[in-house]
Amino acid sequence: VSGQTSPPKYPTPWGEGLGDWDDAYAQAREFVSQLTLLEKVNLTTGVGWEGEKCVGNTGAIPRLGFKALCLQDSPLGVRFADFVSAFPAGITVGATWDRELFYQRGYEMGTEHREKGIDVQLGPAIGPIGRHAAGGRNWEGFSPDPVLSAVAVHGTVKGIQDAGVIACTKHYIGNEQEHFRQGGPNLTSAISSNIDDVTMHELYVWPFAEAVRAGTGSIMCAYNQVNNSYACQNSYLQNYILKNELGFQGFIVSDWAAQHAGVASALAGLDMTMPGDVAFDSATSYWGPNLTVAVLNGTVPQWRLDDMAVRIVASWYYVDRDTNQLEEGPNFSSWSQDTFGFQHAYAEEGYTRINDHVDVRNEHRDAIRKVAADGTVLLKNNGALPLSGKEKLTTVFGSDSSENPWGPNGCVDRGCNNGTFAMGWGSGTANFPYLVTPLEAIKYEVLSNGGSVESVIDNYAYSQQAALAHRVSQVGGACIVFANAAAGEGYIIFDGNEGDRNNLTLWDDGDALINNVASECNNTIVVMHTVGAVLVEPWYEHENVTAIIWAGVPGQESGNAITDVLYGKVNPGGKTPFTWGLTRDSYGPSDVIYEPNNGNGPPQDNFVEGIFIDYRYFDRFNETPVYEFGYGLSYTTFSYSNLQITAREAPSYQPTTGETPEAPTYGTISNRTADYLCPEGFEFIFAYIYPCLNSTDLRTASNDPEYALNYTWPVGSSDGSPQPRVPAGSADSLGGNAGLYEVLFTVTVDVTNDGEIAGDEVAQLYISLGGPNDAVRVLRNFDRKGIEAGATETYSFDVTYKDLSNWDTAAQDWLISSYPKTAYVGSSSRKLPLSGPLNIAG
Ligand code: NOJ
Repeated sequence: VSGQTSPPKYPTPWGEGLGDWDDAYAQAREFVSQLTLLEKVNLTTGVGWEGEKCVGNTGAIPRLGFKALCLQDSPLGVRFADFVSAFPAGITVGATWDRELFYQRGYEMGTEHREKGIDVQLGPAIGPIGRHAAGGRNWEGFSPDPVLSAVAVHGTVKGIQDAGVIACTKHYIGNEQEHFRQGGPNLTSAISSNIDDVTMHELYVWPFAEAVRAGTGSIMCAYNQVNNSYACQNSYLQNYILKNELGFQGFIVSDWAAQHAGVASALAGLDMTMPGDVAFDSATSYWGPNLTVAVLNGTVPQWRLDDMAVRIVASWYYVDRDTNQLEEGPNFSSWSQDTFGFQHAYAEEGYTRINDHVDVRNEHRDAIRKVAADGTVLLKNNGALPLSGKEKLTTVFGSDSSENPWGPNGCVDRGCNNGTFAMGWGSGTANFPYLVTPLEAIKYEVLSNGGSVESVIDNYAYSQQAALAHRVSQVGGACIVFANAAAGEGYIIFDGNEGDRNNLTLWDDGDALINNVASECNNTIVVMHTVGAVLVEPWYEHENVTAIIWAGVPGQESGNAITDVLYGKVNPGGKTPFTWGLTRDSYGPSDVIYEPNNGNGPPQDNFVEGIFIDYRYFDRFNETPVYEFGYGLSYTTFSYSNLQITAREAPSYQPTTGETPEAPTYGTISNRTADYLCPEGFEFIFAYIYPCLNSTDLRTASNDPEYALNYTWPVGSSDGSPQPRVPAGSADSLGGNAGLYEVLFTVTVDVTNDGEIAGDEVAQLYISLGGPNDAVRVLRNFDRKGIEAGATETYSFDVTYKDLSNWDTAAQDWLISSYPKTAYVGSSSRKLPLSGPLNIAG
């Protein structure tokens, strides 16, 4: 599918106030009706990079007291601010499989953003989904499985928005690697993720649909191209899938400088451009004055601009920003930690108090510790764990156990790997308020028991490691070895890794460290902090490696959380949210593209593996994983029994028909260009983007040498007449046709805790859709429950119409095939003791 193109889909669906958005739309329409052209444009365009205190800032509408919107990273906490919490990353909360924690973490993060004066939290991340194990930003998201990712994003969005902040679900879509996401030296344009229609729907869009269902107020379009059209001006992705099929009612905001054209992006569905300038601090914008020009000369119809404004303001009302916004605006600056500095950092103007140093952490440390512990996955245990705390000699090895000598925030945006790894690098970060290291927490634990503890934190001090490990073999005790693997966003290259990992092995010679300790110590417990799967082949079967733990990307409470698990204060219940392959090749032939493959043209990334990523690939091609998706041990054991499958009464699925109303406009816009001139005598901030014109002549005002060249815009792109709805689309629901979410079956199962101690079990429901092009099985539901020793709990899973469907390209709808469907229930993607048919009536 190299050179694949993206079909044109116009016009942009106008927001209608579908689902529970009706009140917010009513308020937004009333507000937007009062706005002038310039005020509307001001909502859509950022003021320029570092023009105000947040990473993204819109213009304000002072006449009506509407404050500029502050958009701030990240998916795991407030970036670039002090006295905030560093929450566990997405991949670790994903590993909890815990709906309550998805929500709670979201709510607490949202609270911190609100209390810092932020309107839009730039998270959660569900793209990349994790197509490649080596993908640089997978850890920001939850899992390469679309259903786990969907449930996690749903709870996170609800949590953030219940706290009164707009969530920005990102990156839409196909941003599966860091290399070439924005192009590169000598490349004409960014990489193109070439994705077929079925794969798009059944895999990549699935979690976005759930974010829309949860009411996400905004969605960030990605840097890359999809089918050779930039994501932020791709009408198929934005107009057709997101706004029509999924009925998205909020606004689409560009990733930072991911916009590549003005009119084209407006007509293709973009609603807000960030940070507003063409390139950071270019002082030019595709929108701003150029959007004003485009509306005045008629290339962008008024209804489209009005729709952008309504979508933005409706999101604001939808999460009750009218009552939640801080009176004084953001109380921190992204660009300096000093109390006083420049309001407009790039221009170095407006010297004032910029940081109030407000502590917004509340009591969030408790949930942070719980998420990190509950997301810890026990991969191997020969009875070594839990530790009693009475070990004669406890020893700790590896730089991953201890402090970054430069401090927890010693590397900008965490762009290094010194000391214990608790956060990846890039924009998806927050400053640590503290970082409890594993070594200090273990020491505290051992010393409170009056024990003895020593450590070697130098990964290359082989003789010292061996000597200490040898002593444990003499006197008894435990050797706890820490190792890690990092990754991040591609604008930081660390140790030769341009965001994406160059390999899947442990960093800093972790394999040698582990083998060196294990060669001496017969009770070697390996703990890994990694962004995703690593190759454990060099040591995982070593007889002296008595336990293996994946402790993920845990955030500030790292040491406390791992100590909770090691010493049995928390019985581990996390399950790996991705597959651990024996070799890199185990994941299949599709991998990160590290070298341009299309001359100077956009690298062509053909998603030829289709839906077969992660466990779907392993299952289809009989590849044996080391640890399969969904796997994780406990200090107790569980057994599964009594599978019951009950068909439920549901109306038969009806494709959506009918038409939308016509595009509304709000207020009238005069075409007297003189009304939109920048006011004389106004004190302009350097390099700041304003919506006003510097000439009454539109050509001059556009400052565009290609102005009004003979250009035709896509057919129908300005058409505001009623439009047909699409079959899979919504008439008045979010996330598509309401019939997709009708429950066709309920599956129940009993899980018994057969051991001596209480523990949590994540029971998982997989479905075989039965067709030759289907995955062997796909996860469709799960739940995590605590079960007392000896007790039995019943788990109940709904199975919806969509859960049983395939995307049908011809019908452009979800259809249930005639192949027999089977439900499987168990403790992982490969431990599925119970199964039964799902007999679909008719
Ligand atoms: C680019 C990143 O891709 C995005 O995730 C982030 O929100 C913006 N930069 C703003 O920092």
